[in-house]
Amino acid sequence: MTQDELKQAVAQAAADYVAANAPAGSIIGVGTGSTANFFIDALAALKDRYPTAVASSEATRKRLEGHGIRVLDLNEVEEIPVYVDGADEIDGGLNMIKGGGGALTREKIVAAVAKTFVCICDASKLVDTMGKFPLPVEVIPMARAQVARELTCLGGKPVLRAGFVTDNGNVILDVHGLSISDPKGLEAQINQIVGVVTNGLFALRPANVLLLGTAEGVRRID
Ligand code: A5P
Repeated sequence: MTQDELKQAVAQAAADYVAANAPAGSIIGVGTGSTANFFIDALAALKDRYPTAVASSEATRKRLEGHGIRVLDLNEVEEIPVYVDGADEIDGGLNMIKGGGGALTREKIVAAVAKTFVCICDASKLVDTMGKFPLPVEVIPMARAQVARELTCLGGKPVLRAGFVTDNGNVILDVHGLSISDPKGLEAQINQIVGVVTNGLFALRPANVLLLGTAEGVRRID
């Protein structure tokens, strides 16, 4: 199976999960990235049952609307029973690194509202210890150099994502060289640096369910 076929299989499994667990009319939270895009396409087939969603990025909003799914502002929404999104790395405790696509802050906000976070990814994303994938950190532009110095003190090598501006008008520092033995502690520590909007560790709010695409089929880990 190709990587795209694995992504498509987990996206369909997530749509099946939504259909089985979210009452008709529920507002569905939708993540960002290539795997989330396959989920959006699968969700479109259920749009009579789930006509509204909340998007974690402008790209996702456009794709949902392209399928005729109405996208609500999060401020109009009180409950999101299920949020479906990909990850760049995930460990056995369902802690994740996200933000390869730069949408980490909005993803974290939607995930905070959601009752259940369903992570969808292919088997290459499951790791014992996170950190091989550079950790994205969204930063207010004027604080970039100071935040980079602080991240260096934590043992990382921050690299400015060239030519990239987030949906919130900020920049991303991708932090290389971290071996993340305490994901919750590091997430909290980086978020304390003045000028950081948020970082791509999702450990304080990990996933609840992982749907993992493998050559043998979709594996569910709770
Ligand atoms: C977007 O900012 C990210 O958090 C994505 O969810 C993550 O990078 C996974 O993307 P892919 O599904 O494209 O690998």
